[in-house]
Amino acid sequence: MNIITKKSQNKDLRHISVIMDGNGRWALKNDLPRFEGHKKGAKTAKCVIKYCLKQKIQYLSLFAFSKENWLRPKKEVDYIMKLLSRSLINEKKFLIENDIKLKVIGDLSNISPSITKLLDQAINDTQNNKGLTLLIALDYTGRWEILEAVKKLSSDISKNNVDINNIDEPQFKNYLQTSDIPDPDLLIRTSGEKRLSNFLLWQLSYTEIFFINELWPDFNETIFNNIILEFKNRERRFGKISEQLNNSSMNT
Ligand code: IPE
Ligand code: IPE
Ligand code: MG
Repeated sequence: MNIITKKSQNKDLRHISVIMDGNGRWALKNDLPRFEGHKKGAKTAKCVIKYCLKQKIQYLSLFAFSKENWLRPKKEVDYIMKLLSRSLINEKKFLIENDIKLKVIGDLSNISPSITKLLDQAINDTQNNKGLTLLIALDYTGRWEILEAVKKLSSDISKNNVDINNIDEPQFKNYLQTSDIPDPDLLIRTSGEKRLSNFLLWQLSYTEIFFINELWPDFNETIFNNIILEFKNRERRFGKISEQLNNSSMNT
């Protein structure tokens, strides 16, 4: 059942972010090797892209691989990278057919040239698409991104391109990898962990967070739609007092 009316789409929910966690525990639970969890997790990611298309979400950011994830066993890292390159080859047609624009945030200096080439091609081939923007965070951490921004900003200050007294939040945002992307309205983290694990640290300042217990490979459309429904019932106050209180106090 489509529980979201067309009218309410997009209005307050432009950008959904996801920390896709729990692949390994899903595999363990199902008596399978860890790589099977990643394989199923990649399928879930494609499903979530479809849910976003259905709900006309404009931006979806997926945390695919963190800088800290390089510390995992080489075999696991190699498998995740293989899965990524396979997805880039197999899913490019899906991206084009569904008007999806691919973007990548992250360091990428440790990613193999064969994968960065596939990424570049997919980004290039989808750059004029106007539907969903799909942001993949790869070899990414929030602290790394902020540090990179500080380095570029410092360099511009030293070249007198920027006046230090005029630096404000919108200007700082221009130095982030997400400079052209609105901050996430909603963050979902699966698998019961209640932490950000270095994801989008600047951008998540006022994001509504949903920590849910389901493991990523078990995530489905009903859970997705229920989260959106609950999101729409939350009041985002951004430091102000409640709209209702505001209206009633106006009358007193
Ligand atoms: C998320 O699942 C995938 C990546 C971090 C790449 P995990 O592999 O972290 O799954 P758990 O946390 O071990 O269950
Ligand atoms: C976060 O999951 C990173 C991604 C989903 C890519 P982790 O499984 O790496 O996070 P921690 O280690 O439990 O914090
Ligand atoms: Mg994990």
